[in-house]
Amino acid sequence: MSEELCEMSLQQTQELLRLTDVTLQNICCKRFTTEELYVEALAKVLGGDGRRGPRSIFIAFQEAADAIYRGRVFHLNKGEMVEGSEEIRIDPLSTYAVDLTEAEVVVSNWNDSCETIEEYQTNFHPYVKTAIGTSIKNFVCCRISGERPGAIIAFNYPGRATNYEADVLRSLGVVIGSLVTLSNEVRETEKAFIYTIEALARACEAAEEGTGQHIVRVNRYAGALAANMGLPAEFVVSLSHAAQMHDVGKIKIPPTILLKPGPLNAAEMEVMMRHPVYGEQILGDSPRLQTAREVAIAHHENWDGTGYPYNLKGENIPLAGRIVRVADVYDALRSTRSYKEPYSHAQALQVFTEGDQRIRPAAHFDPAVLATFFKIEHIFDKIYESLSSG
Ligand SMILES: [Fe+2]
Ligand SMILES: [Fe+2]
Repeated sequence: MSEELCEMSLQQTQELLRLTDVTLQNICCKRFTTEELYVEALAKVLGGDGRRGPRSIFIAFQEAADAIYRGRVFHLNKGEMVEGSEEIRIDPLSTYAVDLTEAEVVVSNWNDSCETIEEYQTNFHPYVKTAIGTSIKNFVCCRISGERPGAIIAFNYPGRATNYEADVLRSLGVVIGSLVTLSNEVRETEKAFIYTIEALARACEAAEEGTGQHIVRVNRYAGALAANMGLPAEFVVSLSHAAQMHDVGKIKIPPTILLKPGPLNAAEMEVMMRHPVYGEQILGDSPRLQTAREVAIAHHENWDGTGYPYNLKGENIPLAGRIVRVADVYDALRSTRSYKEPYSHAQALQVFTEGDQRIRPAAHFDPAVLATFFKIEHIFDKIYESLSSG
């Protein structure tokens, strides 16, 4: 083994280890797709930037052992991974799958097994050949183990493909296998987390009769507002789950007040107005619940500082709270309340334009959120109409 090759293989393996390390560090606070993970890992071993590596990689996964392989070809172009193909499916029983299934690792060079390079091409799936775009001279294939089995085939190393390249690729297979398993675990945990949040929100909704699907709709309005304000995708997703927590503090309001059919007197109103602070207390200090906490504490604050509980003003009110304020008011207008019949969309729009005895739009709402509301008001109507069975 030449010293140079050894050095390169070591360097690439170290890059993969660093990737695993960084991924593990981030895994609690970052959302991954399986594809993001392996594309990042593939970029570490493809040739380029003076690195010795393959020109193209085909990576494919199976839903289970013996199932069809589904995958894509990737190339490295100016340091960026680019997809070289649509999804390619390979039946594990077909001749093209021999190298995918036969051994843990296969190293192959055309002149070891064929008279001509043209003859060598007949071993490969036509779609894979098209995606690679040039004659295949060599390849290394290795299995990916873990929850989602699969295989990686790296094509066209400069010169000959060797066992050293096979070692790097095998490390890549192990790294990808573990990252995929981990990211599946994280996704499951995420699902459980969202389910728990929803269960908590439903518990509060049950305490307050007659709200029907209010919390589901508020999630949807808030997500639509945030997305149309051009806010980062991560914030949009987080707000679309957190908005439903706005009234979580009402669980601590006595039913005699919460469910009182008529208007509340001053003392009862004072108790009722504690629900944002109760909500903040219930949600605690977990960083994962930060948006939910901001929504709970700030969804009754007004832009001009006349809201409650802290009389926050303008941009001192957390953005998530300013957005949910608009979503919550729209839904309250459309719904039956002890003091009013449900409004039509046109009547609700009128309140957002001219105000009424409770709402002064220019004073109460963030102007940017209000402007976005008017831009997408038809979406609000659609959300209400499609989710108003409750
Ligand atoms: Fe509230
Ligand atoms: Fe509400």
